Amino acid sequence: MKTCTTIGETRADALDVRKHGKSLGLVPTMGALHEGHLSLVRTAKARCDVVAVSIFVNPLQFGPNEDLGKYPRTYQRDVELLEKEGVDILFSPSPEEMYPAGAVTYVTVEGLSDKLCGKSRPGHFRGVTTVVAKLFHIVQPDCAFFGQKDAAQIAIIRRMVCDLNIPVEIVICPIVREPDGLAMSSRNAYLSPQDRKSALVLHAFLKQISSQFDQGERDAAALIAAGKKVFSLEPAVCLDYLEIVDPDTLNPVERLNGPSLAAVAAYVGSTRLIDNVVLDPTVKR
Ligand code: PAF
Repeated sequence: MKTCTTIGETRADALDVRKHGKSLGLVPTMGALHEGHLSLVRTAKARCDVVAVSIFVNPLQFGPNEDLGKYPRTYQRDVELLEKEGVDILFSPSPEEMYPAGAVTYVTVEGLSDKLCGKSRPGHFRGVTTVVAKLFHIVQPDCAFFGQKDAAQIAIIRRMVCDLNIPVEIVICPIVREPDGLAMSSRNAYLSPQDRKSALVLHAFLKQISSQFDQGERDAAALIAAGKKVFSLEPAVCLDYLEIVDPDTLNPVERLNGPSLAAVAAYVGSTRLIDNVVLDPTVKR
């Protein structure tokens, strides 16, 4: 695996891949890799000739009181995991390389960036779209791979790619869960054993909603009320939002007549976790 820390060398390597007529896949990450990330890498390996992974804890997507300082950093272990998966290029720039002094340009997807997590994390999605746009310009991948767990991020990145005519295919990979159902997340590392148990309520909520949906319930308010009952059984978990929205516009839906996204965010202790499920009346589960 070739490790690049500068934009210049990454760009040169990516150009070389394209010169040889090979397809290039990019998996953007913030490191602290887990099976969810590795599933993105494996899908990228299956789809593209050459796979690049970026590891960059992007300061721009953390609010002033968020966990930038304590965000898990496990660089050596990440490198070993990526080498084992046969990744070709690792781009791990410094904050100064990505945001040199004087940088004042941002990418904002208006109207979507303030929905779901954007409501309680103002500026978060602006940070995500800015860094992802930069990564797309630096690497110029044919395909980029993202996890379904960050469903709002996907909608926003898709909108950005469409609006800015960025020639990259966005490939979405399913949520990877622990055996007991908890969605894999780098932030799970923060959970105490007690918090870890309490965190299962997010999955329990989604299971409750899915089962009512499978039984024919199509009224969003009824589904949300059923989900909230599940939450009320776990007082240690503080709900941030629980919404059923259109997966593209992130606007709330009243009736689930087409594919809809049930999304939840909650604080377990001081750890903020998210999870979601797509409810599609045309798909038999
Ligand atoms: O999903 C993430 O890990 C981050 O938001 C991303 C896409 C790598 C941008 O920093």
